[in-house]
Amino acid sequence: MAGYLVDDTRKVTTHRLFEMKQSGKKIAMLTSYDYSMAQVVDGAGVDVILVGDSASNTMAGNLTTLPITIDQMIYHARSVVRGVNRALVVCDMPFGTYQVDPQDAVRNAIRIMQETGCDALKLEGGVEIIPAVKLILDAGIPVMGHLGLTPQSINKFGTYAVRAKEAAEAEKLRSDALALADVGCFGIVLEKIPAKLANEVTKSVNIPIIGIGAGGGCDGQVLVVHDMLGMNKGFSPKFLRRYANLFEVMTDAIGNYVSDVKNCNFPNENEQY
Ligand code: KIV
Repeated sequence: MAGYLVDDTRKVTTHRLFEMKQSGKKIAMLTSYDYSMAQVVDGAGVDVILVGDSASNTMAGNLTTLPITIDQMIYHARSVVRGVNRALVVCDMPFGTYQVDPQDAVRNAIRIMQETGCDALKLEGGVEIIPAVKLILDAGIPVMGHLGLTPQSINKFGTYAVRAKEAAEAEKLRSDALALADVGCFGIVLEKIPAKLANEVTKSVNIPIIGIGAGGGCDGQVLVVHDMLGMNKGFSPKFLRRYANLFEVMTDAIGNYVSDVKNCNFPNENEQY
């Protein structure tokens, strides 16, 4: 059984995440993209479920997060929401839905909220997206920022290497984090940056900072659920801890099924009418 099943079954809100930061309680966040997985993740005590645009990679097999559409994100988020009782559900705004025009961004944000029932949205970027973030917040929608290695900008970066190792990029990240906190974001994901920088940023703002490959000094951690369950073989960055090897578990189970069918061992007499 799960090692940490929460006794507090109240719905997680952005306000409760803020209290967790204040009291030094760590925040556990994982992705989910469908109803069945969301039920497991929520039931195991995860505080925040991210319907990440990493669905583009894990669910659709794309190389990047860029191809996933707003309709596809809405489908995933709506399925997740149906499986969740306690966790705060955050949905990624996909590439192209908030970068062009802040008015467009708020229209897309409202559509995602209305059609999915999720609790909040996540957008990638710093000062350049503040006008869009502000309008979305003004519409009453909680926003989470995402800085560091922002996968929607992978073509600009040209590499998945650690970000903000140089002073200039680190300085921009610090001021982006302050700008996102000042405008009213309820949290920020920091992806693949030096632990020391993430620790500084965590101390410099009063909103929760959730790290992925950003060290233990953050207020919480997020991983892609398929990665931490070992459902894909090809992805092993240094920051990833695998808690299971489901690729092998599932392959063995399915292999046994195939062999039972072929050897006339399934179904047996008790498995038929
Ligand atoms: O899309 C995603 O899964 C994410 C996490 C990596 C934070 O943004």
